[in-house]
Amino acid sequence: MIAPSILSADFARLADEAAAVSGADWLHVDVMDAHFVPNLTLGLPVVKSLRKATDIPLDCHLMIEDPDRWAIGYAEAGAHNVTVHAEAAADPVKLAKDLRAAGSRAGLSIKPGTSLDSVVDVLKHYDTLLVMSVEPGFGGQSFMPEVLDKVRTARNLVDTGHLKLVIEIDGGINADTIAQAAEAGVDCFVSGSAVYDAADPAKALESLRGLAAA
Ligand code: DX5
Ligand code: ZN
Repeated sequence: MIAPSILSADFARLADEAAAVSGADWLHVDVMDAHFVPNLTLGLPVVKSLRKATDIPLDCHLMIEDPDRWAIGYAEAGAHNVTVHAEAAADPVKLAKDLRAAGSRAGLSIKPGTSLDSVVDVLKHYDTLLVMSVEPGFGGQSFMPEVLDKVRTARNLVDTGHLKLVIEIDGGINADTIAQAAEAGVDCFVSGSAVYDAADPAKALESLRGLAAA
């Protein structure tokens, strides 16, 4: 699966920018609060509007403090997947249950410095594991291959039936890096700048899909 990140899109033309990647599996929406990460992006009103403007399932990545309070609103707004950060969640098990009860998939994300071990016990409550391959906060950063060890471990836990998760990766995914992430066992690839900075985003998306499947 490929999930273009609208962080690299033109925020004044979000409906058109979503339409430009109509072949996407998920549309990745980066919510940043200028506290959990240094950057500030968009919030619930934009997600609600986007939900009406596109049929692509929305994948909301909440880089915010206190997701226990705010995440549920994104599920209620019709997001297909809502991912919270393990470093910010106070009660990740309750949060996952609440997200599912509100009709969304539940996702848990870990920053590059956060171990898989520290979250493995709660992952059975989740549908998606989002492994960050850059420090969250900005698009266009370089891929950190060292996080692939966590992907390999998670892949093994899924393949042996210990967990049931979509393994997603986010940060620095482009034509040069996607194959190694695929090889490590990623199911869903977030890509911002490599899709939206391309002259033809739809073509860039399909080219990434081809490289991931090769
Ligand atoms: C970064 C965001 C990413 C970002 C990825 O904190 O979570 O989703 O859009 O951008 P690229 O693909 O340019 O690294
Ligand atoms: Zn993201």
